[in-house]
Amino acid sequence: MEADIERILIPRDVIATRVREMASEIARTYANTLGGIVIVPVLAGSIIFLADLIRWLPFKMRIALMTVSSYRDKTVGQPPRLLQDVSIDLRDRHVLVVDDILDTGNTLRLVMGQLAARQPASLRMAVLLRKTAKAPRDVKADFIGFDIEDVFVVGYGLDFKDLYRNWPDIGVLRPELYS
Ligand code: XMP
Repeated sequence: MEADIERILIPRDVIATRVREMASEIARTYANTLGGIVIVPVLAGSIIFLADLIRWLPFKMRIALMTVSSYRDKTVGQPPRLLQDVSIDLRDRHVLVVDDILDTGNTLRLVMGQLAARQPASLRMAVLLRKTAKAPRDVKADFIGFDIEDVFVVGYGLDFKDLYRNWPDIGVLRPELYS
């Protein structure tokens, strides 16, 4: 696996520190929220980030999984599709979407639209990474771990063809592997 990584972009200790800071920001935002919040992780890229983040959040929460098709592995231009919707009632609940990366925004535009229609009391978004090069104006994250350059990254939950999710750092994949 290591041979496929060109360079480490964000080492594990830097990720750990920032995730803990993000948890503090999120905890402050929801400090006066009664009854707990609903976390909606977007599968599967968010799994490692989710696991680390929520263990620093000191309040009650429910977790409602959502799965969106990974359109990158398929035909270019094919929009993302919802494969698994949340199964609990979100009306009047405080909802926080958790995802690995905001790139073109196509995935999170779909997710936020779908969740807004369920009439939550509030709807916010936390992303570990944002690629500033393509970040769209209409899809805004409330909590952002790192702004990164426009390179293809893997590790810490992020995959290429379902591989590399277990790499503990965030690394740049060798371009010859995906071009
Ligand atoms: P969009 O363009 O919809 O992208 O904002 C969001 C989804 O695309 C995947 N993605 C990546 N996955 N390295 C990855 O491993 C990347 O650099 C990358 N950029 C986008 C990811 O699944 C994300 O949820």
